[in-house]
Amino acid sequence: MKEAPVLILGIETSCDETAAAVVADGRRILSNLVSSQVELHARYGGVVPEIASRQHLLLLNPLIDDALKEAGVQLKDLQAIAVSHGPGLVGALLIGVATAKALAYAARLPLVAVNHLEAHLYANQLEGAVISYPAVNLIVSGGHSELLLIDESGAIKSLGRTRDDAAGEAFDKVARVLELGYPGGPLIDKMAREGNPAAIDFPRAWLGNDGPYDFSFSGLKTAVINHLYHARRRGEQINMPDLVSSFQEALVEVLVEKTIAAARDLEAQTVLLSGGVAANSHLRRRMQERLRASLPAVTLHYPDLKLCTDNAAMIAAAAYPLYQRKGFASLDLNADPGLGIGRP
Ligand code: KG4
Ligand code: ZN
Repeated sequence: MKEAPVLILGIETSCDETAAAVVADGRRILSNLVSSQVELHARYGGVVPEIASRQHLLLLNPLIDDALKEAGVQLKDLQAIAVSHGPGLVGALLIGVATAKALAYAARLPLVAVNHLEAHLYANQLEGAVISYPAVNLIVSGGHSELLLIDESGAIKSLGRTRDDAAGEAFDKVARVLELGYPGGPLIDKMAREGNPAAIDFPRAWLGNDGPYDFSFSGLKTAVINHLYHARRRGEQINMPDLVSSFQEALVEVLVEKTIAAARDLEAQTVLLSGGVAANSHLRRRMQERLRASLPAVTLHYPDLKLCTDNAAMIAAAAYPLYQRKGFASLDLNADPGLGIGRP
């Protein structure tokens, strides 16, 4: 007889997306609902933590009901409740953690605590990608830019990370200065298609031997702000598409070249992209072109757009191997806003 699937409810509230999903056996998505708070935060040009927490509180319970309904299951049919307990905004994380604990207690189900960053790594597997190891994974989101090496056993080694702004943060901050709106990434991605990426030669922080796989984007952000300031002072007309296209080019070039260098140095078989910035069309295209040209045997995977940005299906998927090894959390689980990823 075929074994019944393991059904896990995933809950995600680490930033400004309230999300709930039901996933079977860590791979098959039965429902995946995201209620974005983007419009609420847009008028402030970024996420306001207090507003995020309050919205999670309002939205989460009905969203969980909807996710169960859409999956055609009830609480009693589940095998576990999984929640992202860090990193993220502490007040936002606490809403998810408290809700997951209450549900696990009431339904007598095991609770699985998931690292939000590790969950981003599962987005590719959710789409059925067959991954050969070792793999280099670039996680680029609003809060993080991490270059990781993953081996066959699933062990994660941290190769490098940002020293200042995260890639998504740089997109969002540049968009705010240019008064384009929030979140900046998708808006810049779209506008950049109309511009010339070579129009302005913005700086690239390569960091040399000091940090071959580390990133730094605050200098680039400052260069964009200075360019704007001087152009305005001189009364020059600013070509916005050229400006954002040149900014995006500088940022993407660094992400791509450092990822390729890591894949070459560490003899990776696969390159994986995840996190919100992995939705960037220029990053996807450039990474593919550069891999084909310099490491043709290495396969590239990036998730579907809706699995790049924060979602709960990736939380349930990341919980599955923990569930299988009975890596359960106790009911005194707390939020861990500074949780990191990978051993150094
Ligand atoms: O992973 P995510 O949803 O949330 C965090 O964990 O941070 O990532 C959100 C970030 C935002 O900074 C947003 O501007 C960026 O991902 N983003 C993009 C694109 N779509 C979303 N950045 C560049 N190009 C895009 N198409
Ligand atoms: Zn994220």
